[in-house]
Amino acid sequence: MPYYGINLKNKGKVVKIKVFIDSGKLEEIKKAHSYGILDGVTTNPSLIRAAVEEVKKDGTEIDIKEYIIKILNLAKGLPVSLEVIGNTYDSMVEEGIKLFNMFNPIAKNVYIKIPVNPSFEENSKTDFDGLRAIKTLSDKNIPINCTLVFTPEQALLASKAGATFVSPFAGRIDDYIRTENKIEFKKSDYFPYMGYEVEDKTLEDNGVLSGIDLVAMIREVFDNYSIKRTKVLAASLRNPRQVREAALVGADIATIPFIVIKELVSHYKTREGMKKFTDDIVPEYEKLIREN
Ligand code: E4P
Repeated sequence: MPYYGINLKNKGKVVKIKVFIDSGKLEEIKKAHSYGILDGVTTNPSLIRAAVEEVKKDGTEIDIKEYIIKILNLAKGLPVSLEVIGNTYDSMVEEGIKLFNMFNPIAKNVYIKIPVNPSFEENSKTDFDGLRAIKTLSDKNIPINCTLVFTPEQALLASKAGATFVSPFAGRIDDYIRTENKIEFKKSDYFPYMGYEVEDKTLEDNGVLSGIDLVAMIREVFDNYSIKRTKVLAASLRNPRQVREAALVGADIATIPFIVIKELVSHYKTREGMKKFTDDIVPEYEKLIREN
């Protein structure tokens, strides 16, 4: 399938994609930043847990406040998302304000991550608490990254409530479609953006064919209404092709795990070409370039 199967509406316009790292690990953030390509950082409680466990692995104590301060200083000038842990309106608003007041003064780069719907059960009385918290916090000028977005409708509502970023979880949609259809997969396996076909039937989640299809739908809905204040942040990206496709469908931002960032730059022919060029260096050329 050629890439021009994907929406090319943005062709010719000046559109810039931003690259965030999806990690709570200081060393990974430091390295990605040193590559000169970093525009921001996203964390969530699971990523913070992985970071804390890594520090504690060799018996080192962690001061989580100091650790987060180090991340914020390192990412000075770049947005860093920190997630609340509550699942009611009151707790999320309280935690959002606390996190923002505690950490934003450090480098003025804190975004608060709020789930679009914090309920564990269907038809819960807290179903709208995420949107209500987004509205309250964004009215206080606290920038919000609305997380755990799985439909264009959720993204639209999050934008209306005032979110600065909406985070569609592309990889988890692909996981869900495969799991529901009893397809075995590894987390990093590619999932076709046009949908996974089984016996002439394209699998889907209520009309969403893939995680990238979800990102494309949100892009289109936002473009239909010229929604500019909310950026589409493609999250839960698991492999380089998914990052490529997030860019092709017009995501404003891609947040990428460190392991995938490393894969983005790799190609066998690049390595092979590099070796050949190195083998072909003649002394005259080397002398000209390397000697004063
Ligand atoms: C980022 O904001 C998300 O929390 C993250 O991308 C989730 O990724 P995962 O589905 O690989 O855990």
